[in-house]
Amino acid sequence: MTTPLIIDCDPGQDDAVALLLAMANPSELELLGVTVVAGNVPLARTVYNARVIRELAGRLDVPVLAGCPRPILLPPRTAEYIHGEGGIDGADLPEPSAPPELTHAVVWLIETLRLAARPVTLATLGPLTNIATALVMAPDIAGKVERLVLMGGAIGQGNVTASAEFNIYVDPHAAAAVFSAGLDLTMIGLDVTHQARATPARIARIAAAGTKAARAAAGMLDFFSARYAESGRVAGGAPLHDPCVIAYLLRPELFEGRPMEVEVETASALTLGRTACDPHLRRGRPANALVLERIDAEGYFSLIADSMINLR
Ligand code: RIB
Ligand code: CA
Repeated sequence: MTTPLIIDCDPGQDDAVALLLAMANPSELELLGVTVVAGNVPLARTVYNARVIRELAGRLDVPVLAGCPRPILLPPRTAEYIHGEGGIDGADLPEPSAPPELTHAVVWLIETLRLAARPVTLATLGPLTNIATALVMAPDIAGKVERLVLMGGAIGQGNVTASAEFNIYVDPHAAAAVFSAGLDLTMIGLDVTHQARATPARIARIAAAGTKAARAAAGMLDFFSARYAESGRVAGGAPLHDPCVIAYLLRPELFEGRPMEVEVETASALTLGRTACDPHLRRGRPANALVLERIDAEGYFSLIADSMINLR
């Protein structure tokens, strides 16, 4: 039985590899569409990049929809210092020919979930603005969401501030709405993704798949890792954040985690965007997310390299 899936993303090299991983496994993942949000780079660029990756994967059957161009309350914040001006720098890919859909991503999410024959899995790889907006506009769609697996947050240190991870920090109000919506949530934060470094040897294994998609993924990861090293924060290979979400859908046995009560800080200037994760439920509230803590990194990169062979 395939899993009906919608990916919401802000490509970004790691989003791009996550899209390739999902598009390379159609026998397990029925990708209904890719909704795009402003994040790593502005919306016009994230939408363009999603279209580029869709064509690289040869999956023009998958609609791409442009969503929210900015967070709900805060001004936009981008990350060109890591991702480059284009957002998926490192791969020289042709202009996309197929256009995005005309429908706004939030409207499409609501319509698609309402009409879905069976509940749909949501995989989110960027700020949660589109998802939160859809839940506010149409709370009934929560009943058509099988589960939401998100890359974001951290049990420990953040990567934008000491407290906050980028996807949550950009739109903490959207994140707070999603974490309190009663969905079946799985949170994959920096504690996991920093165990999965795209080392030169692992990037070489991906490139050795030999397909055009594999070479493009390797080029993007080379760029991504170089920028991480230049930023002085992470040497020895960029943490490969977003494909962890798709890998969890495909091979959950590669991961371990615990149910936790997670709350998002939306008021404090010092800790804005913090995901306060408590496995001991000391605030007396129930767990609202499965928070992953460990990954089998070698198994993860083998899955990516093996999947790239399925693409052209
Ligand atoms: O903090 C890492 C996350 O922020 C990843 O999803 C990356 O693509 C950026 O969106
Ligand atoms: Ca992302």
